[in-house]
Amino acid sequence: MNPTKYDRSAVWLASDLEQHDNWNFSLDQTSREHLKQMIKATLDKDRPLFDYKPDEFDLGPAGKTIAAAMDMAHYGRGIALLSGLPRDGVSEQEFELLNWAIGLHCGVARPQGRASQYISSVRDAGTDYRAATGRGYSSNAKLDFHADGCDLATLACYNKAKSGGQSMISSSVTAWQVMCAERPDLAEVIHGETYYFSRQGEEAEGEGPFYGQPLVDFEEGRLFAKWNRNRIMSAQNLEGVPKLTELQREASDLFDAILKRPDIMYTMYLKPGDLQILNNHVTLHSRTDFIDHDELEKKRLLFRLWLATPNSVPLPKSWDAYFHSVKPGSVRGGIRGHQYDDKCRVFEHRQAAHLGMH
Ligand SMILES: [Fe+2]
Repeated sequence: MNPTKYDRSAVWLASDLEQHDNWNFSLDQTSREHLKQMIKATLDKDRPLFDYKPDEFDLGPAGKTIAAAMDMAHYGRGIALLSGLPRDGVSEQEFELLNWAIGLHCGVARPQGRASQYISSVRDAGTDYRAATGRGYSSNAKLDFHADGCDLATLACYNKAKSGGQSMISSSVTAWQVMCAERPDLAEVIHGETYYFSRQGEEAEGEGPFYGQPLVDFEEGRLFAKWNRNRIMSAQNLEGVPKLTELQREASDLFDAILKRPDIMYTMYLKPGDLQILNNHVTLHSRTDFIDHDELEKKRLLFRLWLATPNSVPLPKSWDAYFHSVKPGSVRGGIRGHQYDDKCRVFEHRQAAHLGMH
């Protein structure tokens, strides 16, 4: 594959991210103070998030920096880190609303699971990640490399763990290129064959318990990758899912191993006030297990948003089984879950109209 302009900057090694900080953004004191005062003035504790409109939140001087970070994740490196969101003297609810406000300006938030939640509190709720219905965000487990189910995911740190909880990110474009160079035969397997992913019991009406797609595909010269060992192994226990062939196992094991190579995998710790933005098509990510603080108010807490954006690119046709639309700039992806109702539909329509999306 010849990388296009889009893909070239998404091809990186860990050392590239260390040496070039063009994917790092930070908010200055003025921007931070503006956001803090703005969010305190706007928060109504009893108002549901769906109720807030984008123009109620003036991001002020932070707006340009946030947009630049989103663009870097979208069209550049596939990852961006924005540091300096207000955190001191900001309550959990205020911090959550700030993230919601950023999302309202950048895209249409997507639901993320069984409860059809549009923003997830990423914290240890004692979930068994390896169970048939397990999810990583509500556990303290070490997670497999995976892509989140949306175009762009943002993760904002409110509290970090006592220890552990390190974030790992690899360029899936780099991993693909390495695989093509080392084992073109196995690269062809992850591109040409269908792998089945479990929906972990979170399927909405009209969706089956699993879906199939290749791990790597292309559209308009761009590479798209998806991987999640936990969901693929989970699907192996579902009726109707073909058993993985030896070759499929070997190919995905190699892809997974390449993602974890020290020269390819970039590791970082998010600190309070950091916002990590990931393009799930060109990066795959993971997290180490963690030990939490004993005190409730200090426990590890991040807020996660999944976004469909107005300027998104066309997806490969094989991505339709999960995303339900491959059209550029469409409201796509997410996990509609079991509580997807009119309130969700109204919110999505209003937000899509605001951003000129379909
Ligand atoms: Fe994730």
